[in-house]
Amino acid sequence: ARRDALPRDLEGLRVVVSAGGTREPLDPVRYLGNRSSGKQGYALARVAAQRGAEVTLVAGHTVVLPEPPGVTITRVSTAEEMRVAVRESAASADIVVMAAAVADFRPAGRAEYKIKKSDDQPDPTIVLERNADILAELVAARTPGQVVVGFAAETGDEHGSVLDHARAKLKRKGCDLLVVNAVGDGRAFEVEDNAGWLLAADGEERPIPLGSKSQLAATVWDAVAHFHQYSRS
Ligand code: CTP
Ligand code: CA
Repeated sequence: ARRDALPRDLEGLRVVVSAGGTREPLDPVRYLGNRSSGKQGYALARVAAQRGAEVTLVAGHTVVLPEPPGVTITRVSTAEEMRVAVRESAASADIVVMAAAVADFRPAGRAEYKIKKSDDQPDPTIVLERNADILAELVAARTPGQVVVGFAAETGDEHGSVLDHARAKLKRKGCDLLVVNAVGDGRAFEVEDNAGWLLAADGEERPIPLGSKSQLAATVWDAVAHFHQYSRS
């Protein structure tokens, strides 16, 4: 995209974007993680900066990605570190977008030394405990006029379609906008040529056409800019 073709509609706005996956340590050398690449969050940060926003990117683990120009990057590893970093930046932000894949659970204990296998001990069991829900905490701490955006990857199943699950998640999370990626084998059947949906707390629902992560980022910022304008007036 030509840089001069982009609108500067986010000028003067402070934006926080989280990206990538968290890692939850089991012992000094092992962790529970996920396959998030971080590409969508990085694209959101890059496009927001191009459109004039002051952007902080809270990045968990990602594939190797170019640092978006003009973006402040804070690197974190665990969900708890991401929680602290996001909360701190969000306090003065106009818009917070949680694009990160935050681990729902962490090992209940972190072994001080490398876990060893042994023939006279039973094999270990990993006990998990819940991580805090960062998005839910952001919603609870939302400052007046602040826009909070969540992401969700959903598949349709016997309990409902992608859209059914997404509507329920939007309600449960209480965020202003939910960006829903339709994933998995059911996608073509579920949503035809759509990559997902953009759901707003006011009930507006828009399909997101299949496209690049930059295009999805542009679609999200269009919606956020629109929403922010109305939440201010
Ligand atoms: N999220 C978060 N903190 C967590 C888990 C999720 O902030 N501990 C955020 C994600 O960054 C995303 C949104 O919540 O923006 C939805 O994540 P998702 O995993 O789809 O939702 P969950 O409530 O964890 O539900 P599920 O049981 O389907 O995983
Ligand atoms: Ca989850």
